Amino acid sequence: MPISISPSILNADFTRLGEQVSLVAPHVDRFHLDVMDGHFVPNLSFGMPVIESLRTVTDLPFNCHLMVTNPVSLFGPLADAGATTVSIHIEVHPDPSVPAATARDLGLGFGLVLNPATPFEAVEPFVRLCDVLLVMSVVPGFGGQSFIPDVLPKLEAARKFIDSSGLVTDIEMDGGITPETIGMARRAGADVFVAGTAIFGSPDPVDAIARLRAAAEAEE
Ligand code: DX5
Ligand code: ZN
Repeated sequence: MPISISPSILNADFTRLGEQVSLVAPHVDRFHLDVMDGHFVPNLSFGMPVIESLRTVTDLPFNCHLMVTNPVSLFGPLADAGATTVSIHIEVHPDPSVPAATARDLGLGFGLVLNPATPFEAVEPFVRLCDVLLVMSVVPGFGGQSFIPDVLPKLEAARKFIDSSGLVTDIEMDGGITPETIGMARRAGADVFVAGTAIFGSPDPVDAIARLRAAAEAEE
């Protein structure tokens, strides 16, 4: 499984967001965009105007992590703004069949997200609908939190299920990913690693990506 590092811009310097995205883009193959509504999570982030602006600085895929109570109503505007995939929380749509079909009709990829407290069984019947399975290793809402190692058995269960079912779904880990924690996530079966603070909180984001990648590869 190749390793992908997916920068989350949540903790980037928003006064020069385009510059920061352009700086790291040659070193990654996708971006992770955290959309929050102040309701599903107690925080607000950004929406369509920001995503549309960033679309002018890179052609890389934009994986939108929707921490919102009504995600499906945003699919059309997100597609228009340049989103590539939309990932919704299983906690807001326990049966995501209709949202998955809506995303496909709009030409979007589809993903499901699990909070730390949500078991793998909640998504198991729907993994076949997904391009991406996003396993949270922090309680969503804020960047810069500490990695919760208790979620690792769930990641192992997801990897086992996906491999034994012959699926090619990406398994992403999101929250508290650093050079110190990425190895644990890799060992447990993740192939895409979302990192915000570890990249944009570093004085040298490009070097930070190289250090994350090296630490994940050390687990091969
Ligand atoms: C948390 C977000 C994460 C976050 C990751 O609600 O979903 O994507 O930005 O940030 P770090 O890497 O700082 O934990
Ligand atoms: Zn996220």
